[in-house]
Amino acid sequence: MNYSPAPDLLKDRVILVTGAGQGIGKSAALSYAQHGATLLLLGRNQKRLDAVYDEIVDKGFPEPMSLKLDLAKADDKQFEAMAQAISEQLGRLDGILHNAARFEGLIPLELQALEPWLNILRVNLAAPIALTRACWPLLTRAPDASVVFTSETHGHAPAAFWNAFAVSKSALETTVKIWADELAPYPNLRINGIVPGPVRSPQRLISHPAENRDQLASIESLMPLYLYLMGADSRGQNGRVFEAQAENLL
Ligand SMILES: NC(=O)c1ccc[n+]([C@@H]2O[C@H](COP(=O)([O-])OP(=O)(O)OC[C@H]3O[C@@H](n4cnc5c(N)ncnc54)[C@H](OP(=O)(O)O)[C@@H]3O)[C@@H](O)[C@H]2O)c1
Repeated sequence: MNYSPAPDLLKDRVILVTGAGQGIGKSAALSYAQHGATLLLLGRNQKRLDAVYDEIVDKGFPEPMSLKLDLAKADDKQFEAMAQAISEQLGRLDGILHNAARFEGLIPLELQALEPWLNILRVNLAAPIALTRACWPLLTRAPDASVVFTSETHGHAPAAFWNAFAVSKSALETTVKIWADELAPYPNLRINGIVPGPVRSPQRLISHPAENRDQLASIESLMPLYLYLMGADSRGQNGRVFEAQAENLL
């Protein structure tokens, strides 16, 4: 994407990134911090969160906060307690990047048991919605807030064996459209989606173990779009799902 963010694009903003411990979430957190944001780093793995925390501090970016939370288990009460803690400790929330995802491999529908199916839907779909809802009072108070959900190509181009993962991403894209349509009372808030396309990340190694990783785009090449959608330059964009590696993106 041909976009040059201002160095202080996200100055004074507080941004929550889920799945911030590795892959795309880690890069987005570092890019947001580099552009002035205070980060809330959410993930399950404390060691990975600590490493991202240290990298942000070592680079002299605003000191972030870690939120260890398993999206497969969190309930409304935990999400609300988290939002309350953000309100008390930082006083604001200007954006959420819903990036965390559960992928358990490809499987035919006839073999899909109920509990693993529900777990995937819980992490990829229900938790991002519940988390956004818990943060709603903060987001609607922010002067310019942005919520970004992460989809995947099979969310709109389903194919055999992608199963609950594709269903969860498809439903996320639908959620983007529905929620964006409900935002008329909140002109300060926008909700969009990103389809990153194939990039060299840990998850991609699991979903496509045999492919030549040298031919994949780098995670860093996606960051202009991630920055654009989180900053004020994307005001007015609402209810869209952006294919990060498409030509003529805007
Ligand atoms: N990579 C690609 O080519 C590609 C293509 C299209 C779409 N995407 C989408 O882009 C996003 C990021 O992909 P990625 O490849 O960077 O993924 P990744 O390397 O597997 O990272 C996923 C992150 O999600 C977190 N996570 C998973 N389950 C969680 C749970 N129950 N609670 C809290 N956090 C949880 C993990 O946290 P821990 O580290 O704490 O375990 C991890 O940091 C995903 O939504 C993915 O579907 C990726």
